[in-house]
Amino acid sequence: MEKKNIDWSNIGFGYIPTDKRFVSNYKNGAWDEGTLTSDATVTISECAGVLQYAQTCFEGMKAYTTEDGHIVTFRPDLNAARMASSCKRLEMPVFPEDRFVQAIVDTVKANEAYVPPYGSGATLYIRPYMFGSDAVIGVKPANEYQFRVFTTPVGPYFKGGVKPITIRVCDYDRAAPHGTGHIKAGLNYAMSLYAIMDAHRQGYDENMYLDAATRTKVEETGGANFLFVTKDNKVVTPKSNSILPSITRRSLLVVAKDYLGLDVEEREVYFDEVKDFAECGLCGTAAVISPVGKIVDHGKEICFPSGMTEMGPITKKLYETLTGIQMGRIEAPKGWIKVIE
Ligand code: PLP
Ligand code: COI
Repeated sequence: MEKKNIDWSNIGFGYIPTDKRFVSNYKNGAWDEGTLTSDATVTISECAGVLQYAQTCFEGMKAYTTEDGHIVTFRPDLNAARMASSCKRLEMPVFPEDRFVQAIVDTVKANEAYVPPYGSGATLYIRPYMFGSDAVIGVKPANEYQFRVFTTPVGPYFKGGVKPITIRVCDYDRAAPHGTGHIKAGLNYAMSLYAIMDAHRQGYDENMYLDAATRTKVEETGGANFLFVTKDNKVVTPKSNSILPSITRRSLLVVAKDYLGLDVEEREVYFDEVKDFAECGLCGTAAVISPVGKIVDHGKEICFPSGMTEMGPITKKLYETLTGIQMGRIEAPKGWIKVIE
């Protein structure tokens, strides 16, 4: 199979349509068998649940080319489970988890020519999503839904790749204490758009959201969880019911403990403690681990000792071990890698 003629090393995090996408429709209480299609457009009622009341959720994952030339995905079963939990919270029908994983495999296989080569720095981003597709005008769940999976080759989420970024403490909240912060609902991202554009206008790369109830504890950013490293090399990550349970973060805790022999703590992290950490990073499928060099809290700067030019040393080890596992250079824990055959 010949790869597409794309300048893999210079693509950003954008949408490049690929040849095929998976579509399955839910009607009369059942999902159809689904199909791969070349049609990249969606036609739905003007009154569709997704358009009127934002009834939609999504997932984000990647396919990688390994050192020995296989195409693999990373822990797709966890994305399937998280999407099921998003659907339940939004009164949407679950797309069966085994069928979710199969749809990922089929879509990646059908777009093999777009999976960036090993060592290019790019990956194939996979976007499964679901939305209410039939008309609702009273506030209620739709009766019909569409589940789709498309792929797009991507480079680094933050321009500059692994160069440390600057973030600010945000005055807007991302998620309410008993709201939807723990699921991957489109609505969480719609309401973050003003905050991220405002951050960019002020010269920051991202927002640090605090807990909405007390504004004293670190939550996450608009698209990634936080990891901190203490001065004695302990890896600390915020625990909260209103953040997305990042698969990257959960994996990195295993990497830190079992591969690097580090102590790890998942606990509430008070913003007051942040100044005492040695390193800070954002972790997620898109972000991988993006180092944070500086956090600005209403004019007060926290500059991490790791600085603004390099990843901190522990962050770097975590990054290299995780990407080593994903690219097949380092043996993965059982069940983490799904080879697309
Ligand atoms: N937090 C938010 C709000 C996200 O959108 C994402 C991206 O998926 C993450 C965290 C990271 O999650 P994961 O590592 O599962 O991609
Ligand atoms: C991902 O990391 O997959 C996400 O969905 C985050 C999004 C902000 C791109």
